[in-house]
Amino acid sequence: MLQDAYGRFFEYLRLSITEVCNFSCTYCLPDGYRKTVGPGFLRIDEITRLARAFADLGTWKIRITGGEPSVRKDFTQIIEALANTPGVRRLATTTNGYRLYQNAQKWRDAGLQAINVSVDSFQPDVFHRVTGHDRLDEVKAGIEACLNADYDAVKINAVLLKGINDQDLDLFLDYVKNRPVSMRFIELMRTGDNVDYFDRYHVPASVVSNALEQQGWVRKTREQGAGPAVEYIHADYAGSIGLIAPYSKDFCKSCNRLRVSALGKLHLCLFTELGMDLRPFLQADDQQEELKLFLGKSLQSKAVSHFLDEGVTGGNHRFADIGG
Ligand code: 5AD
Ligand code: SF4
Repeated sequence: MLQDAYGRFFEYLRLSITEVCNFSCTYCLPDGYRKTVGPGFLRIDEITRLARAFADLGTWKIRITGGEPSVRKDFTQIIEALANTPGVRRLATTTNGYRLYQNAQKWRDAGLQAINVSVDSFQPDVFHRVTGHDRLDEVKAGIEACLNADYDAVKINAVLLKGINDQDLDLFLDYVKNRPVSMRFIELMRTGDNVDYFDRYHVPASVVSNALEQQGWVRKTREQGAGPAVEYIHADYAGSIGLIAPYSKDFCKSCNRLRVSALGKLHLCLFTELGMDLRPFLQADDQQEELKLFLGKSLQSKAVSHFLDEGVTGGNHRFADIGG
């Protein structure tokens, strides 16, 4: 089992498969993705070996992240490979919803069970301004397609942005009134690339929790093994609301996740300075034991907290690099 020096278990892997993204969200890739030279992203054989080692060590949930994971031509094959890894019981992805409408059923059939779609605003012009793409209707059609394709869980992510979407709680609530989706509000995180943006647009998740509590939403009791999100439910709503507040006290106590970047680096935290290179251990099937030993050992240096409240951004320049 993967356990750190503070007694936390890590059964959840967030695996980035590309840094490329076709959107240009203002807080992440304001100028869009620019190709750089260097080693390519993890190949499917490397991904398969990586997943097998993690699963052997008790990882049962994998989320495929990016960049935008679906820009990879072999995305469906990657889903299949991960879904067929013994021990992996929950396979999820996070997507910007681009061409989701066309692909939702295909990915479900390939073994994808849960999907998070980013929607920072339900106002078309605001969505356009934030992502650089006038595609809100298309993304909404994609979410409907997921609901029709019988995913185990459909979630929507919105990064809370002061003056951009923090006044629109009603629009978000309307959307989940009759749909069994979980709407998650994520506090904007300071990264190496967005320091000024952060100062201007960061707003604490408490603005949402205060409003929810006033409107009769109830905080759900935490299930064991649940990650750092706080969940709210309401008798009149089919959907639920989740808040992800990394700047809140004790956020890191329930940390249950590890990250691997698209270049095969193990990140013990979103905000650690350096990733540990796993690629040398991913080149042949007979390296599995070596890889597992390395993972177990690396975990011992995981820190107790991210120290974000002290202004640390660590090595995280932007989320497109190591996944959100
Ligand atoms: N702070 C919080 N969330 C972010 N994401 C990207 N950059 C940031 C940031 N600086 C989110 C996206 C998406 C997920 C992939 O990560 O909005 O929901
Ligand atoms: Fe792309 Fe996601 Fe970054 Fe937006 S937040 S630019 S969708 S990687």
